[in-house]
Amino acid sequence: MTEKDSIVITPLVERPSLASRMYGIADSWPAFTSHDPVADSLLSRVVEDFPHTCVVATDGDRVVARGLSVPFNAVLDGREEMPDTGWDQVLVWAYRDRRAGHAPTTISALEITVDAAYLGRGLSYRMLAALRDAAAGQGHTALLAPVRPTAKHLEPRVPMTDYIRRRRDDGLPTDPWLRVHVKIGGSITKVAPAAMTVSGSLSQWRQWTGLPFDADGDVEVPGALVPVHCDTTHDRAVYVEPNVWVRHEVHARAT
Ligand SMILES: CC(C)(COP(=O)(O)OP(=O)(O)OC[C@H]1O[C@@H](n2cnc3c(N)ncnc32)[C@H](O)[C@@H]1OP(=O)(O)O)[C@@H](O)C(=O)NCCC(=O)NCCS
Repeated sequence: MTEKDSIVITPLVERPSLASRMYGIADSWPAFTSHDPVADSLLSRVVEDFPHTCVVATDGDRVVARGLSVPFNAVLDGREEMPDTGWDQVLVWAYRDRRAGHAPTTISALEITVDAAYLGRGLSYRMLAALRDAAAGQGHTALLAPVRPTAKHLEPRVPMTDYIRRRRDDGLPTDPWLRVHVKIGGSITKVAPAAMTVSGSLSQWRQWTGLPFDADGDVEVPGALVPVHCDTTHDRAVYVEPNVWVRHEVHARAT
């Protein structure tokens, strides 16, 4: 059996006992992202509440990757366009709809995270394919994704609108994660300029980043896609993360 063959990927609903271990994998998310209040309050519940649209990868007994997506109703008033407030917005909509009993009309990905020991083996393609398949299996014709380009943090001062135009000689996006989405069939639609917001006192930001946060203006923080804005007069700093909306058309299967 090859290494690739030993990894099994399924919708979480088929292996619900793994839900509690989904967030335990060794990941490389910057610490400050968990202080987005939307993520902080809702993300940990997604695997329990939406197991049909989440996928899990295991290697033997070990959980080695998670893929999370949520269903929401995209035809209600004000939801005709993919939201400028991307990631935060779809997570809020998914929970609002769940409470109100609004039938979902589409699915949005939230994240794919691969365990540090399993990076660089092509697993992200298989996880994204599994999320697309889960959306199709729920009878939907599209999987939306507010994508966080993985190399954008290296150039935080470049506007996202310029960044997403960058192409290699073969015409594919220069950014590795955008490239995965496009290679597997996704279309880059537009930037979500305020996909996630993290605000805090300067003391909190020092704690989250180890940086001094002692001067007004833009601060480059490792892992941040754009600079964090520091305001010493008011003792606060704010990070507004841009993401990129990608649309994947999928072939719905009857549910
Ligand atoms: C993004 C992530 C899921 C990619 O997973 P992965 O399984 O390691 O990626 P793959 O091995 O499938 O490689 C995907 C592409 O990225 C490229 N790539 C992988 N690691 C890279 C690196 N360190 N630097 C540059 N490119 C890289 C690969 O070459 C490949 O592109 P190609 O097929 O066109 O050559 C993983 O890095 C991760 O979990 N990151 C932390 C969470 C995150 O940022 N998730 C994405 C936002 S939701």
